[in-house]
Amino acid sequence: MNQIIIGSGNQHKIEEIKAFFSEIKIDFKALPEHRNLTEVVEDGKSYKENALKKARQRALELNEIVLADDSGLSVDYLDGAPGIYSARFGGGGLDDEEKYLKILSILDGVPLEKRKAAFISAVALVDPFKNEEIVVEGRCEGFIAEEPSGANGFGYDPIFYLPKYNKTMAEISQVEKNKISHRARALKKMKAVLIKRYTE
Ligand code: IMP
Repeated sequence: MNQIIIGSGNQHKIEEIKAFFSEIKIDFKALPEHRNLTEVVEDGKSYKENALKKARQRALELNEIVLADDSGLSVDYLDGAPGIYSARFGGGGLDDEEKYLKILSILDGVPLEKRKAAFISAVALVDPFKNEEIVVEGRCEGFIAEEPSGANGFGYDPIFYLPKYNKTMAEISQVEKNKISHRARALKKMKAVLIKRYTE
């Protein structure tokens, strides 16, 4: 069975990716813990550039096929911020809750119709053996809720309101999230490529 390394240190992302591909006959593995890997400098100008950067660097270091995600939250009222800087929003020292509370305080008093937002995910695959790079993107549209709710998921999920469900992303199950999320939409595009290249 072919092996693909998920080039992410984010346990939630790893779980979502593994769950999404659970039926494919590929062995998805997390990054090896014992290896002292150099931090990836995420200085790309887009999600796609950063996803490719992560996958390329890990593929080179490990000599393995690597799949990496770069993602974030884009808020219309903030002209697309925090965007590719979502992980470091507020200066870098804030935890997930502090980051989403900061967004809520900036949007305080802004009516729901002006709180449009999107989660965006770029997923890159780098295969050093076939000398191949593939990158795809997925989006999930929603609104910034007025207050946080839900305990599932991670990051900005508790403030990402999905009108179709009348729930936040943190209130729906992982199974449901993996049908509609930005990452799921990007992974869906990647799925056919993986099946063709690595299972047939
Ligand atoms: P990255 O690890 O550089 O791609 O940073 C992604 C950041 O965007 C995370 O730290 C989260 O704050 C946010 N993010 C990405 N995907 C999700 C998601 O599925 N739910 C909630 N927040 C997310």
